[in-house]
Amino acid sequence: MMRLTSLALSAAAMASLMLVVAPQVDSRTNTQNRSPIYGVTIPDGYRQWQLIAPALEAEPLDELRAVLGNAAAVDAYRKGTLPFPDGSVLVKLAWKQKPSPEFEPATVPGAATTVQIMVKDSKKYAATGGWGFGRFIDGKPVDEAQHQTCFACHQARVKGHDFVFTRWAP
Ligand code: HEC
Repeated sequence: MMRLTSLALSAAAMASLMLVVAPQVDSRTNTQNRSPIYGVTIPDGYRQWQLIAPALEAEPLDELRAVLGNAAAVDAYRKGTLPFPDGSVLVKLAWKQKPSPEFEPATVPGAATTVQIMVKDSKKYAATGGWGFGRFIDGKPVDEAQHQTCFACHQARVKGHDFVFTRWAP
């Protein structure tokens, strides 16, 4: 009797342990902060990362942008390493453009629009050039359909630059 009880207990303990340890395999079940398809999250501390280059899109979005990289990505840019090594992360920030209220000819960032992420993991994301993608609005990932467009465009245009558009700003 004692034995059975302790067996049942340890089975329950093991089951709960597995629950804690088991990785989140299907990112689509978590709609909180992981991108669909890829399971990419907004990295901690990315606002302190280095600037790779700014960008501007006049039409149709009318956005100011900045691309930042973590230490691994910046190091690869500096050395001209392609493909980017695993662990490289690129973040693209975007804002609406607005004229400076203090000096009209100048353009300043207005409301933040999106945060977009690319994470290099050549094994996990082998099917998409080694990159996992995430697009977030107000910290929440956009839908799966939008995430299906990411690699298609990057692949069509910048296959020869490891699927990355942004070059180090001179
Ligand atoms: C129609 C083409 C197109 C699509 C679709 C697209 N991108 Fe991009 N992406 C660009 C261009 C062009 C840049 C260069 C920076 C700029 O002009 O804003 C860029 C830059 C980036 C960057 C900075 C690194 C780099 O390659 O320069 C990230 C991160 C990024 N995109 C993520 C995404 C994500 C995530 C998605 C899908 C939700 C996505 N992109 C969909 C065209 C595209």
